[in-house]
Amino acid sequence: MSGFDMDWLGLREPVDVAARDQGLIAALAGYLESQPAPYLVDLGCGTGSTLRSLQPALPADTKWLLLDHDPILLEEAMKRSAAVMHVNVGEYDLNDIATLPLDDVSVVTASALFDLCSEAFCAALVARIADAGCGLYAALNYDGAIEWSQAHLLDVDVVSAFNRHQRTDKGLGMALGPDATACLERLLRARGYRVDIRPSPWRMDSSMAALQTAFLNGFRQPLLDASKLEPEEIQGWLSYRLEAIPAPESLCKVGHLDLLALPA
Ligand SMILES: C[S@@+](CC[C@H](N)C(=O)[O-])C[C@H]1O[C@@H](n2cnc3c(N)ncnc32)[C@H](O)[C@@H]1O
Repeated sequence: MSGFDMDWLGLREPVDVAARDQGLIAALAGYLESQPAPYLVDLGCGTGSTLRSLQPALPADTKWLLLDHDPILLEEAMKRSAAVMHVNVGEYDLNDIATLPLDDVSVVTASALFDLCSEAFCAALVARIADAGCGLYAALNYDGAIEWSQAHLLDVDVVSAFNRHQRTDKGLGMALGPDATACLERLLRARGYRVDIRPSPWRMDSSMAALQTAFLNGFRQPLLDASKLEPEEIQGWLSYRLEAIPAPESLCKVGHLDLLALPA
């Protein structure tokens, strides 16, 4: 299983919705309006957050196929998409990219996925979509920048260790982590795509305490694995950050990038 549980995906969905670049969504909608039968395939769909975020802006007859390897997340995606016409879900392991069903697909979509993927995976996917003539909407790719309004002496060490850990294997080869968007851009431009990239940062304030707590707790193991910090230093940093969440002025910004690539 992926290790992405429903609670975490549910916590992040509102901040993802707020972060997505609306200009790219409008450009995607415009492109789909020009297609006779708009059809999207969403990779690593989780519970269907991409569909819920995009569909209100897209042509009503847009068809969707949601793919993930986690049957529990797919069951939830199916339940929550029941009201939307033209949605199918399928259990699919993205390691099997050669068999990705791309017939008649207008655009492949994915959110919060490509930072988990390797360069080889991205190269294979871009080759497949270019051969099939599809576009790519790749949103919410972590870009390596995390900033807190209240600084701590260890922030730089912590973020660089976290980013080292982001570049380890997450099940799809050695992950690109913060380099994912630049890698996709290079591969897509080489195949003649028009590529547009916009920032889509999370901005978490004190009203998002549950999300901030889960986000910070997600640092513990990566820091133990990938930093030179002593366990007591890690615990000290975490305690400081967790205690700072309720402060009205405290803000945490996490950098992401959205990418839209359309056939030229
Ligand atoms: C960070 S979550 C994002 C989920 C969803 N796109 C969203 O924005 O809420 C990454 C998703 O990729 C899926 N995933 C990870 N590795 C996969 C693989 N090898 N094949 C298919 N799906 C995979 C996970 O199950 C999870 O749903």
